[in-house]
Amino acid sequence: MSGLRRARVRAAAKINLDLRVLGKRPDGFHELRTVFQTVSLADIIDIAFAAGRRTEVSLEDDAGIPDNLMARAARLVLEAMGVAGRVEMRLRKRIPMGAGLGGGSSDAAAVLLALPALAGGRLSLAELTALAAQLGSDVPFFLVGGTALGIGRGTELFPLPDAPRWPGVLVAPGIHVDTPGAYAALSPRLTTESQQNKIVSFQANVWDRGFGGLACNDFETVVFERHARLPALKKALSRAGAPVALMTGSGSALFGLFPTREEASRAWRRLTGGPGLLTEEKAYRVSLVGRASYRSMWRRALAEHVIPGIWPPRSRYKR
Ligand code: C5P
Repeated sequence: MSGLRRARVRAAAKINLDLRVLGKRPDGFHELRTVFQTVSLADIIDIAFAAGRRTEVSLEDDAGIPDNLMARAARLVLEAMGVAGRVEMRLRKRIPMGAGLGGGSSDAAAVLLALPALAGGRLSLAELTALAAQLGSDVPFFLVGGTALGIGRGTELFPLPDAPRWPGVLVAPGIHVDTPGAYAALSPRLTTESQQNKIVSFQANVWDRGFGGLACNDFETVVFERHARLPALKKALSRAGAPVALMTGSGSALFGLFPTREEASRAWRRLTGGPGLLTEEKAYRVSLVGRASYRSMWRRALAEHVIPGIWPPRSRYKR
């Protein structure tokens, strides 16, 4: 293919350092208060673009994901820029799926960030955010990264100071949680009184920088009832010394954060050496990725194609 421009990018996973579900909204989505955080575990995406008369999108994906959001993201972004051409993508999946780690959302956001750079189009953060929200509630967060407050559907994002860089251990138990089902189970339990309590306690936790023992994920109640293995894993993380041990998103992955590397290493040995985890349960050592690191990772990946120092990445090609 002539005029092919290519890049290899990393699409980072997220965890929710706190997640409160307040109630159902008239549009059917639920009103949230959450703190998103990017982590070092990432999928690897190769993406190539060549201008052409027709738009064609191909995706090779080692996980065989049906109706992958990446292809939809590619079409949306080309349409928004008024560009046609051939997009070739290859996804190497590292982030467990259906685990609350935002892997699919991050892959879609990665296309929204990379493709304009390759295709020579310019979309503002506001335009990209609107496209991202069409793709899914977690997608807009990956356009900014780091530590961010998410409200509304989770698509209204505000920067928070980077969380302390506590090393973490992620456990993905291989249980696929159905997100709409988890919302449906939680919804009848939400009351006006519980909303008020949650807002106060969420605020206190955010002021306390997220690690004060007030951190909470509302999905734990309903998801733990269905999967008894999850509270056991949460307990195992706490017993291994994690002052913060929580499920992420609607699960099923859990994370533990540790004040020092030594404590994280000790916990890692305890969890992975011996009878700690079952065979289908995967564990990962991760670090929290701050906003500046997230953006410099992106700038490095797209260096050849972008004007330095601008966010979101701005293409150096003229159309
Ligand atoms: O936006 P996304 O496609 O990720 O949402 C999947 C499903 O999760 C929605 O169809 C909805 O049932 C539920 N959801 C919700 N409230 C949110 C986010 C998601 O009810 N804030």
